[in-house]
Amino acid sequence: MLTLGIETSCDETAVSVVHNGSKILSNAVTSSVHLHKKFGGIIPEIASRHHLEYISYVASDALKESNADLDDIGLVSVTYGPGLIGALLVGVCFAKSISLAKGLPLVGVNHLQAHLYAALMPRDKKIFPYVGLVVSGGHTVLCFAERADRFTLIGQTMDDAAGEAFDKVAKILHLGYPGGPIIEKRASFGNPRYMRLSAFNNSSFDFSFSGIKTAVLYHVQGLLNKTKKDKITEKQINDICACFQKAVVDVLVNKAVAACKFKKTRRLVIGGGVSINKFLRNSFLEIAKQENIEVYFSQAQLCLDNAAMVAGLGYAQYKRGRRSGFNLTPVSDLGIEVN
Ligand code: KG4
Ligand code: ZN
Repeated sequence: MLTLGIETSCDETAVSVVHNGSKILSNAVTSSVHLHKKFGGIIPEIASRHHLEYISYVASDALKESNADLDDIGLVSVTYGPGLIGALLVGVCFAKSISLAKGLPLVGVNHLQAHLYAALMPRDKKIFPYVGLVVSGGHTVLCFAERADRFTLIGQTMDDAAGEAFDKVAKILHLGYPGGPIIEKRASFGNPRYMRLSAFNNSSFDFSFSGIKTAVLYHVQGLLNKTKKDKITEKQINDICACFQKAVVDVLVNKAVAACKFKKTRRLVIGGGVSINKFLRNSFLEIAKQENIEVYFSQAQLCLDNAAMVAGLGYAQYKRGRRSGFNLTPVSDLGIEVN
């Protein structure tokens, strides 16, 4: 069966055609990120308008690339939360229209669960149960996945998400938006032992990344006061990036491994935009070897927001009996959706 996946929860407008939940026939995406750069973060109204303008073109591209037309589609799957409410509304309305016009079943899926599903897509999916870690711009969540449609929350951030912390630290260092890729690059030239920096780390499974962002801000202000200059040096920027990245990754690794022990599983699935980070991947692979844990990441092109993961998860949940009606409503703060 071909599933049409639709994703509009943030700044990416994405449509994909996926065969039987795993074979990606097309994965079309356009982003409004260039329009948000000058503001240093996403402006919801700009994102929604961009989705509205582009979604039909992206859908046509996805169908063309997959050599399919709407008559070949058997299921429509759409992200209905969490995300920006106006942005989600565009995707959900578009999905409902196609479902109604073509008489197709509709499934609304959770964006965070879809990020985890992305790691399972090209593989044999029989890896349940597993501990899932979603690290994105809007969320940091640890959960336990028993099946494609059964998730339990283990822990989450109490303030900023990991990706949000990358974006805010990049703003403090005047590195532009989004912060993740540039911080990763600058960190590769920096000294991770330049300063003592750590993110909130206790025995709970919850995270907090707002303190580390403030520590970076105070450190930069201290350097500027000391030198009476209006800029810190390029070397200092690289060193701060290396220390910040290491501190964030260290706490993610510690808590994810502890969650695997707590849930007595050796499988760890990691998804979301931050999981594209190579330092993060290498750190997890290293600890996984020591702790005898199998760690699964998605392919790089499935880490950031895309509709292939939405189509894949929608199909898996449809097979387990999930259906949505035309009363499907976007939910901005959906969380991991315990069920
Ligand atoms: O999952 P995603 O595409 O969108 C959300 O659902 O939020 O994640 C976007 C986040 C941004 O905060 C961005 O800075 C971060 O992923 N990101 C990275 C990297 N590339 C993107 N963070 C760390 N290292 C990267 N290379
Ligand atoms: Zn995302």
